[in-house]
This record gives sequence, structure tokens and C-alpha cells, in this order.
Amino acid sequence: MASSLITFLRWFLTVPALLVLVVQPYPAYASSRGALTQVLPHGSAPTEGLCKTSVHRHGYKCQEFKVRTSDRYILGMQRIQAPNTKFKCNGTRIPVILQHGVLMDGQGWFVNTPSQSLPLVLADNGFDVWIANSRGTRYSSQHDIFNPTDPEFWDWSWDELASEDLPAFVNFVSTQTKQKPHYIGHSQGTIMALAAFSEGKVYDKLRSAVLLSPVAYLHHITTVFGQVLAKSFLADIGSLIGLAEFDLQGFQLKQYFQTICSNNHFNCYDAVTLVTGNNCCLNSTTMPEWLNNQPAPSSMKNMVHLSQTVRGGVFAKYDYGSPNANKAKYGQEIAPCYNLANITKSFPLFISHGALDALSDPVDVDLLMDQLKSHDGDKLTFQFVKNYAHLDFILGMTANEVVWKPVMAFLKRY
Ligand SMILES: *[C@@H]1O[C@H](CO)[C@@H](O)[C@H](O)[C@H]1NC(C)=O
Ligand SMILES: *[C@@H]1O[C@H](CO)[C@@H](O)[C@H](O)[C@H]1NC(C)=O
Ligand SMILES: *[C@@H]1O[C@H](CO)[C@@H](O)[C@H](O)[C@H]1NC(C)=O
Repeated sequence: MASSLITFLRWFLTVPALLVLVVQPYPAYASSRGALTQVLPHGSAPTEGLCKTSVHRHGYKCQEFKVRTSDRYILGMQRIQAPNTKFKCNGTRIPVILQHGVLMDGQGWFVNTPSQSLPLVLADNGFDVWIANSRGTRYSSQHDIFNPTDPEFWDWSWDELASEDLPAFVNFVSTQTKQKPHYIGHSQGTIMALAAFSEGKVYDKLRSAVLLSPVAYLHHITTVFGQVLAKSFLADIGSLIGLAEFDLQGFQLKQYFQTICSNNHFNCYDAVTLVTGNNCCLNSTTMPEWLNNQPAPSSMKNMVHLSQTVRGGVFAKYDYGSPNANKAKYGQEIAPCYNLANITKSFPLFISHGALDALSDPVDVDLLMDQLKSHDGDKLTFQFVKNYAHLDFILGMTANEVVWKPVMAFLKRY
């Protein structure tokens, strides 16, 4: 038990360590780079797909797919159906796309027992389940031109996850199934969707969207995590413009974090609660599996964009740090805001939020709901779970009863 607690903590420790990098990008990177490149092989594509490692063993059908974005990333997707069904090109099963959050990948959905894993529960309920894996994560580490060792490979933030990855996944699933899919996003998966929808994109290709632990506004993070993020740009933002040159592969980051964290378990324990909130219902037995697989890589630019979201208190595109740089990119001196009030009012949305979620603070969720206040009442379902924090929505042992059943009832309405 004690050792699984420690492994459990090791993962969470990685997040504050990441913040150290965000606060001091140059020094942290410079001092760690030599050591990292000596110790670690470069991160590489996995030899086995997610179907093989996490799905087939439970007896479910699973197929691997590659999806190309218009900016030429090659993303991994998996399609899952219940054991005694047949994959059909145009079957009657309704497709659902599952989009993981930041520092996770598709494997994060499969940590618990089958009856506690959302994709398998959806498959059991007759859905045709598609797992999306964001660019940079292990199943999506290819590009037509760049390798993960090239800085250009990491030159993206959640703007591109919304404008490139999301439409690519949705179009692919629609083409394969000849059906409009539903969308379920967790954490960063909600940012992607809200950003796209507010520009009038993608939603028209979906039946509905379910947003678990929604994060559009991050300004009211009250924890140390939030405060550190907020301060991270008091330093010269100009120095961050060369960001794409930071080749911070997740595999390197992971090792780097684990080195830091293995020396400091006590601080790490505090960090668990501080970072995600006090998750009520995780299964400590499955934590080692989670830790063997997460955190997944992301780009430094994405982490910077997330921290801009904390500091700015607005839901806006990546800020290049100077009026001129923004003008070159956007034709205006400040980074444009996403206008959440522009989301089509008749589009069915289900939003579920945990009271103890430190990343998705209740005040920020209220701000989001305020933006959606003129949404058609019968098209917006809001669920508030008193004892849930950020990870309970995907890893909670009670999530099936508490969240997923209402989610499926919602999906079946559309
Ligand atoms: C769907 O499948 C049926 C057979 O199962 C076939 O007759 C029909 O043409 C297919 N429709 C499309 C749009 O592919
Ligand atoms: C608002 O949504 C419409 C479509 O619903 C879209 O054409 C328009 O570009 C959006 N406006 C902004 C500012 O994103
Ligand atoms: C916790 O996970 C273990 C390993 O998957 C499983 O055997 C056990 O049933 C789980 N506990 C609960 C309460 O679900």
C-alpha cells in the first residue's frame, strides 16, 4: 500500500515540477538538458498499439487507425466495440469520440476494471467508441516532415488541438461510420471543443458534446498551482518567443520530474491535492498502471498557453508576447478571444463539474455557464458533483453510477 501511494504521488509531482520549467524556462532547460540527453533515449513511437496493450485483454474488439491533420500530423485513433458485435462500415451503432486531457493520452481511459472504464462501458451500451490521441502523445508522435526531435514538431498549443486535431478526428469518424458522432472531452478536451465551437466550427458535424471537468477559464484557481502558473510570466515574456526551440519531449520531462520528485515525497503529497483537488474515489491498486503510462508528452508552448489562460482571465488564443508578434500572426496587437457566447444555442451540451476540482474552479465554471446563459434551456444539461475532483471523472470507481449513466441518458436523447 505504502509503495503504491508513493508511486501515485510520483505522478502528481510531475505537475509542479513542470511549473518550475514554466516559471524559469531558460535556466531549467539549460541546466537539465545535458543530463537528460545523456540519460535518456529519445522518445519514440510505441511498438504496440493501444488496442493490444489495453483493450484486447478485456475481450473487446479494437482497431487502430491513423488520422492525418491538415498541418500534417499523423494521429492515432482506436475504435472499440463490445465483444459480440460486428464492425460495420455504416452500422446502426452511434459513434462517440473520447478526447483525453493535458498530460494524458488515450491509455488514461483504460486504467480501471472494464466496468469502471468509460470507453468499455460505452461499448457495452451499444456505442461505437473512438479514442482520440492528441498530437505529441505516444500514439500520435508522427508528422509527414518533422520528428519529435525537431523543435518544429512541438510548435503548437491548444489552439491547434482545436483547429487541427479536433476537426481531423471528427471528419475521420464521420467518414468511417457515415454517422454524426457524439463528443466526450475531459479537461483539455473541453478547451478544444469550446474553442472550436465558439468559432462556429465542428459542432455542426457532431450530435452533441459532453464536457467533463470543463476548463475554459482558469483565472480563479486558488491553489498554489494556480498562483505559480499566474506568476510564470512576470519574467520577460519576450524570451518565450523562441519557444518552439525548446525541444521538451514528454519522455524527457517525465524522467526529469521523477528525478526531482523522488527526493521529496512530502511536498508531492500536498501537490496531489493542490493540483487536481481532492479526488474522492481513485483505486490505489490501479495507480501503478496509470503511472507506468502517464504523464503523456505535451508541448512547452501548450503549457505556456495554459498558463496565459490562468493569468489573463480570458479564453483567448496564444499570446506571442508582443504587439508586433501578435500582429504578424493575427493581424491585431492582442491575441483574439474566443467568444463562448457565440456557441450555437441549439447545440446539445452536457457539462459535469466537481466541487472539489482545483483545476476547474467553481467560480470559473460559473463564468463559463454565464457565457452559456442564453443557450437553449432544454439543450444544456449541467451536473454538479459535490465530492468529485479533476480525475474522478475518468478514474473514479463510482464514476459509472454518478456521471456516466447520466451522460449516456443524455447521449441517447440525441
Ligand atoms: C450500408 O450497409 C448496407 C448493408 O449492410 C448497404 O446495403 C448500404 O448500401 C450501405 N450504405 C452506405 C451508405 O454505405
Ligand atoms: C460565430 O459563429 C459563427 C457560426 O456559428 C461563425 O461564422 C463566426 O465566425 C463566429 N464568430 C466568431 C467571432 O468566432
Ligand atoms: C481496484 O483495482 C483492482 C485492480 O484492477 C481491482 O481488482 C479491484 O476490484 C478494484 N477495486 C474496486 C473497489 O473497484
